[in-house]
Amino acid sequence: MSAQRDQFSSKIGFILAAAGSAVGIGNLVGFPVAATKNGGGAFLLIYAFFVAFICLPVMLAEMGLGRRAQRSPLGSYKALSKDAKRWSIPGVLATITPFMIAIFYMVITVWIFGFLVQSLMGNLRQIAAPGYFDAFVNDHSFLLYLVAVTLIVNLILSGGVRQGIERASKFLMPALFVMLLVMVVFVLTLDNAFMGVEFYLVPDFSKIDGSVISGALSQAFFSLSLGMGILITYGSYFRRSDDIVTSGKLVAVTDTAVAFVAGLMTLPAIFAINPNTNPETLTDSSVSMIFSFFPKIFLALEGSVGYVVASIAAVVFFTLAFVAAITSLVSIIEVPTAAIIEQRGTSRKKALVIMCVLVTLLTIVASTSFGLVPMFTEFTFYGGATKSVFDVIIDVFYDTILPLNGLLICLFVSWRWRKENLEQELSEGNTGYPQTFLAKYVRISITTFIPLILAVVFIN
Ligand code: PHE
Repeated sequence: MSAQRDQFSSKIGFILAAAGSAVGIGNLVGFPVAATKNGGGAFLLIYAFFVAFICLPVMLAEMGLGRRAQRSPLGSYKALSKDAKRWSIPGVLATITPFMIAIFYMVITVWIFGFLVQSLMGNLRQIAAPGYFDAFVNDHSFLLYLVAVTLIVNLILSGGVRQGIERASKFLMPALFVMLLVMVVFVLTLDNAFMGVEFYLVPDFSKIDGSVISGALSQAFFSLSLGMGILITYGSYFRRSDDIVTSGKLVAVTDTAVAFVAGLMTLPAIFAINPNTNPETLTDSSVSMIFSFFPKIFLALEGSVGYVVASIAAVVFFTLAFVAAITSLVSIIEVPTAAIIEQRGTSRKKALVIMCVLVTLLTIVASTSFGLVPMFTEFTFYGGATKSVFDVIIDVFYDTILPLNGLLICLFVSWRWRKENLEQELSEGNTGYPQTFLAKYVRISITTFIPLILAVVFIN
């Protein structure tokens, strides 16, 4: 099978595809808001530390594992664990996780698409009106947007790795960078914008406590698309002669840089419309930030730049968010799709139809969390707490299973596959790797304190 396995045509193709996966809604709003609330520059430093010293080794392990096994996570762990059946469990988990996260990510992507369509039609005033978002999530037009987004994902993935994922990323990612820069420049020219920059960057170490630190690690993990089987799958499409280590570093740097720059768009925009914003009370959720906050920001600009320019800014913003979301969605749906192709021997087209139908149906269930079907809106749990399907997916998969999957890959590398094999795999395409500081660091950390730290986060 590995002989005809579809591959990325080049290192840059891989880097853009993996960066496409990593750069998502988490970067555009999740990160900037978390940084501003949790100590500004101090949070940035902690976050950057985690990216370099905890996430990068896990990332390299995922990519190395995938390339060695030439399979999706489901087959990868099995292939490299020889006979030991229990080591197939991490593979099963790393296949279910992306599937479940895909559903919650799909809901948000569909909303972004809906807001993009509305802002393109010149309806900025409507989407910025109080209560619009609450009505929107329960509107039946959701189904129409859902079908459109599913078709777009299907269209990209049906082209396969090189003609689909890589080709789309090569076009969409540069477009994303340009749109982000345009937005930053535009926002920074507004009055009071620099107050936002100040809140974002000036460090306040008094805000740092245990929960901020573990929150920074979770954010970094999610942002780099770790623990979702994505980098195992993309790694399996990476050519043997190409350099995983340098590519991984570039993906991590790109993702972090985009998150950082996104802060220069988000915070100044918030302060430009309200210089008295209290950073402590900034909304917690990326979701309300995108859909309730941003349209208001753009509409508030009407007075100074006029309705047309304000509407154009809204269109650019929602296009940017949509591009960020769709390239992540593609990567996450590729994981279970690849598993179906391998396990069942079906064609890519057929596997995609199965996936799209499943994801669409479950997305409809998840989207009804917002009131459409009361049964799904609230479940009562033993503590008496009520939660929606949507919240349950986030709690279980984002907060708990992601660090668990990271922990499992470290344990797998330490006890079954062996770190020497990982090192050898990472040296393909980079013969000098074993002598580098990074290699020494990975050798020590991946079998000791990285799994320990991830275990602590998981247990918490
Ligand atoms: N890295 C993405 C983000 O920051 C998260 C993600 C990737 C989610 C892939 C789903 C699929 O938003």
